[in-house]
Amino acid sequence: MRAVARPPEDRGVALVTGATSGIGRALATELARRGHDVLVVADRDVDVTVRALEAHGGTHTGLTADLATPRGVAATARRARELGASTLVLNAGVGVHGAFARTPLEDQLRLIDLNVRSVAHLTHLLLPDLLAEGRGRILVTASVAGEMPAPHFATYAASKAFLRSFAWSLRGELAGTGVTVTALLPGPTRTPFFREAGMERTHVGRLPKPSAARTARRAVDALTLGRPEVVTGVQGAAMVAVARVLPQPARAAFHGWFYAPVPPSLAVPRTSSSPLR
Ligand SMILES: NC(=O)c1ccc[n+]([C@@H]2O[C@H](COP(=O)([O-])OP(=O)(O)OC[C@H]3O[C@@H](n4cnc5c(N)ncnc54)[C@H](OP(=O)(O)O)[C@@H]3O)[C@@H](O)[C@H]2O)c1
Repeated sequence: MRAVARPPEDRGVALVTGATSGIGRALATELARRGHDVLVVADRDVDVTVRALEAHGGTHTGLTADLATPRGVAATARRARELGASTLVLNAGVGVHGAFARTPLEDQLRLIDLNVRSVAHLTHLLLPDLLAEGRGRILVTASVAGEMPAPHFATYAASKAFLRSFAWSLRGELAGTGVTVTALLPGPTRTPFFREAGMERTHVGRLPKPSAARTARRAVDALTLGRPEVVTGVQGAAMVAVARVLPQPARAAFHGWFYAPVPPSLAVPRTSSSPLR
């Protein structure tokens, strides 16, 4: 079995938002494996995940909350404070795919409420407790998609650019406090995200992708060690490298290709396993 990095001090309770699926579920599993008790938050089916985490030992708790609403955020913060959560994994997020003018405004604003507003709101509510304790770990799930403008995925890419900047800024403010902030920039990862966002027929939707478990192991290593940032996956690293050298118009064109529909003549059957796993 692979050796895992363990937190140097008390492992404590970890809040994980969006913990019932994909990367969030894998992060929750990895944290449970390393001895954390996990507070699982999502807008449905939390008990299934809580029961699955019990296989790793520990005492795990579920909370059903819609984090796209201030009420859901407040309920989550209340429960996290009751449990004394010292690790915050702010991961829940959605994508809205399509031309901005042709997708419902309500969906775009809900994306901003969840991906952006809930992270700022939760952090503002929970950070004072971490500072009072003089210790804490925060992981913010941004994305390599935030590194470039993204035609047909505009609000999503912008939300992830916000999160990366927010994580780095907060980290700077918190230097010396005992609280660290880590930005997670996953490359394309095999989860239900692309199906949920209606992106299965796009170039990015059809790419082979590494597993969420692999992304989570790298992320929890970085979180535990208090690193500033972790980029996961070969495609993720390539996208960041390309973003650093291209001028902005070329970045938008390059990145837009990922979210464009695959012409039916080029579509090849998807495989269920990935060489990147
Ligand atoms: N997959 C990728 O390639 C990729 C790459 C870069 C970054 N990311 C980011 O990674 C994070 C997780 O994505 P994923 O790929 O794991 O997607 P996913 O499998 O669709 O998981 C999303 C999670 O967020 C929860 N969620 C959605 N809306 C919510 C709401 N209003 N309130 C509370 N919870 C809500 C979902 O719960 P329900 O199912 O109950 O709604 C689910 O647990 C997101 O922030 C995403 O932007 C993903």
